[in-house]
Amino acid sequence: MPALSFVHHYQPGAAPGAPTLLLLHGTAGNEHDLLPLAPELMPEAGLLSPRGKVLEHGMPRFFRRLAEGVFDLDDLRLRTAELADFLTAAAEHYHFDPARVIAVGFSNGANMAGSLLLLRPGALHGAVLFRAMVPLVPDPLPSLPRTPVLVSSGRTDPIVPAAETERLVTLLRDAGADVTLAWQAAGHHLVKEDVIRARDWLRLSFAQSGKGEHR
Ligand code: MLT
Repeated sequence: MPALSFVHHYQPGAAPGAPTLLLLHGTAGNEHDLLPLAPELMPEAGLLSPRGKVLEHGMPRFFRRLAEGVFDLDDLRLRTAELADFLTAAAEHYHFDPARVIAVGFSNGANMAGSLLLLRPGALHGAVLFRAMVPLVPDPLPSLPRTPVLVSSGRTDPIVPAAETERLVTLLRDAGADVTLAWQAAGHHLVKEDVIRARDWLRLSFAQSGKGEHR
């Protein structure tokens, strides 16, 4: 069995076959950051929450950046592959269904989730992207047929301008994803409405007999 190469928290789902939320924290966060959101988002889901391996002045991230919003694309590709491989290894180790993994990422973690969608299109069943940017534009675009993605952005986010959100939504839709865009009266930080919107969207998109059952 391959070693699990990320420091992480794992919690099994309430029932066999329950989806697993892949929780991806923001810059300077860790594997504990998003755990309190999970019972509000999808109480029955299993949780896999890795800690980003890249350190920026001691602060964990999922990939290197050269400046705010300027990403080291070689490192991003490498780290995306590494995280996708970890996901496969963790599914084998903990016996969860790798076809039912839904990413929930915030900021740097949302950018990593976007990169997983774009570079490893089979890795995620869906994704909630809080305050996400375009991580990279692959050529050719992957095929993400009807993959449910929620993009939840802040109207006054100083790090992610509205045009960047629109670019991300267009990119994912061009790849075939079923993207819902939610605007929040907020900046770069999460607000209660993000969580409520994500909870409702997850219920709608991944109900046992719902449209999330397409893979
Ligand atoms: C990133 O580096 O992924 C974005 O700039 C968001 C962040 O500040 O982490």
